[in-house]
Amino acid sequence: MEAKLYKCIKDGKTDYTPIWFMRQAGRYLPEFMEIRKKNPDFIKLCLNDRLSAEISLQPIRRFDLDAVIIFSDILMIPYGLGQKVEFKKGIGPILGDLNFNVILNTKTKDFIEKLSPIYKAITIVKKNLKNKNLIGFAGAPWTLLLYMLNKQSPKNNFDINKIIKSKSLMRDLILKLEDIIFLHTKEQVNAGADVIQIFDSWAGLLPKDKLSEYCYIPTSKIVKNIKSLEVPVICFPRGIGDNYSDFCSAVKPSCISIDYEIDPKQIKEKLHGTPIQGGLDPKILLGPKEEIKKNVEKYLDAFKDYPYIFNLGHGVLPETKPETIEYIIQIVRNKK
Ligand code: CP3
Repeated sequence: MEAKLYKCIKDGKTDYTPIWFMRQAGRYLPEFMEIRKKNPDFIKLCLNDRLSAEISLQPIRRFDLDAVIIFSDILMIPYGLGQKVEFKKGIGPILGDLNFNVILNTKTKDFIEKLSPIYKAITIVKKNLKNKNLIGFAGAPWTLLLYMLNKQSPKNNFDINKIIKSKSLMRDLILKLEDIIFLHTKEQVNAGADVIQIFDSWAGLLPKDKLSEYCYIPTSKIVKNIKSLEVPVICFPRGIGDNYSDFCSAVKPSCISIDYEIDPKQIKEKLHGTPIQGGLDPKILLGPKEEIKKNVEKYLDAFKDYPYIFNLGHGVLPETKPETIEYIIQIVRNKK
């Protein structure tokens, strides 16, 4: 039997609302914190197949979710390409200097070997799943390029002209990323992932006249390749506002994940049947129950006759109480 999230995307089903949460594995779960405390090196934890599989499965031990997302990180790609990546408490990721020669000359075989514990973790998770989808993921070329060049989160100190210095170098890096992102997702599919999500968390930092070159075109090539494996692709170009429908026309994702700035009713009219995922502001989960219910219902109502996967408009925040996740699942399950 095909799991329901896959069916919603593939067949455009509207009679059931699958549910999962971005960043459901990690951060807010006490059982994750316990493992994390004993494993101070985050990269090493991502490369521990047994523990990564365990963390991926933690959310479905507690909650009635339709999918598991593999516990890993988008920055495992720069790491696999030979750039130093560290995660500092209270700061976030810090990357080392970028050596273009090392990156552009990384061999496929070496990359796969370095990241092989991730694929092994997927095979372990797959064995423990029944009637649920297993989501593999990668960062989109633009978001990865941004971390690789900026060497930290672009939250505070972003200047696009400092990022895009040499056009020809950018082109080479993007082409390398297109290849390696597809390779990484293909390995995840071979290991057992049956849906892929592409996170373009910083797409919203691109000015409109650069969206095509840095976001749509590179992403569309990856999406086309993943679709050729008969695996659906969910794209999350966070923060692109009015450009969501242009993104869908250019990239043709199997499903589009919307952020919380998007009006659900309006977007539904514009996307002509492309399945939609997400939307709810993760900050709502920190507030009172009545507000949560009202907002969950806003999305359920807007998409009641449309293929829709319930999710948030960005990842679960670390402050979120596990009971709140449970509460939302109940509302979604009990909808008429
Ligand atoms: O549950 C899941 O979704 C699976 C695991 C997952 C992680 N990162 C684990 C993680 C996924 C899908 C990601 C994606 C990711 N990583 C994105 C795209 C989604 C988004 O949130 O926009 C981005 C931009 C990153 C890069 C990254 N990794 C940052 C900025 C940080 C630090 C802040 C944070 O988000 O916690 C990380 C660290 C990270 N990745 C943690 C986890 C569980 C926390 C590590 C810790 O415990 O210190």
